[in-house]
Amino acid sequence: MSEYFDAGSFTPRYHGIFDTHAHYNDQRFDDDRATLLPALPSLGVSNAIVVGYDIPSSEKAVEIAGTEPFLYAAAGFHPENLEEYGEEGLEKLREILKNDKIVAIGEIGLDYHWKEFGPDIQQRAFRRQLELAAELNLPVIIHAREATEDTLRILADFKGLPGVLHCFSGSAETAKIITGWGFYVGFTGVLTFKNGRKPAEACAEVPIDRLLMETDCPYMAPEPWRGKRSCSPMIQSVAEKMAEIKGVTPQEMIDIAAENAKRLFRV
Ligand code: NI
Repeated sequence: MSEYFDAGSFTPRYHGIFDTHAHYNDQRFDDDRATLLPALPSLGVSNAIVVGYDIPSSEKAVEIAGTEPFLYAAAGFHPENLEEYGEEGLEKLREILKNDKIVAIGEIGLDYHWKEFGPDIQQRAFRRQLELAAELNLPVIIHAREATEDTLRILADFKGLPGVLHCFSGSAETAKIITGWGFYVGFTGVLTFKNGRKPAEACAEVPIDRLLMETDCPYMAPEPWRGKRSCSPMIQSVAEKMAEIKGVTPQEMIDIAAENAKRLFRV
């Protein structure tokens, strides 16, 4: 039980947090999802996007988003979860994307850290889903890990497509390039880590109207919860760090990031 977020001992310092990347479809939320999600508004969180990574998790994202008016969903094939990717899988994805709760295709992208699927199939799946997003006029949520060069090469063909590079771990230089192409950049609890100098430098480079906040929960819990299962209220720590970097108050930063999210995801 110790990994569970203790809402009773948590004091929200701000309001209006928009968590643009949450995996409440993860089994680590199975035991307390039904009580945690309805409590989010009282914990300073106004909106969250439940993000899928394969067909079952995308279906679950839509189902969970359907339980609360302030929740949305995204569906797609993550580069580590391409088992079902193929013509049949894409047809299933298209069906899921018809749901009213869907605000984006994601998460999609490239991950060369885990070698389960090679670069060729990852790149094909990424491109195909970017094309699908362009066809359906949906924003994209992009995951890129240890694959900066190929990610940039592919995204260069999709300049102007609305989207976010989530859990950004790239350099300030990469942040400058992609925001120049119109993409948004999302930061998680990593921004608050002691060794978070690189994301802080990247954050400084991102125009304030291109910044998004996210948990990537259950992962990436910010300080002082590092190592625990994360959830959306913890974003207040990310907001404080981001605000410090941008020279605004945390509440102003939360409001700006929420406006950015609403503009990108059209909600
Ligand atoms: Ni994620």
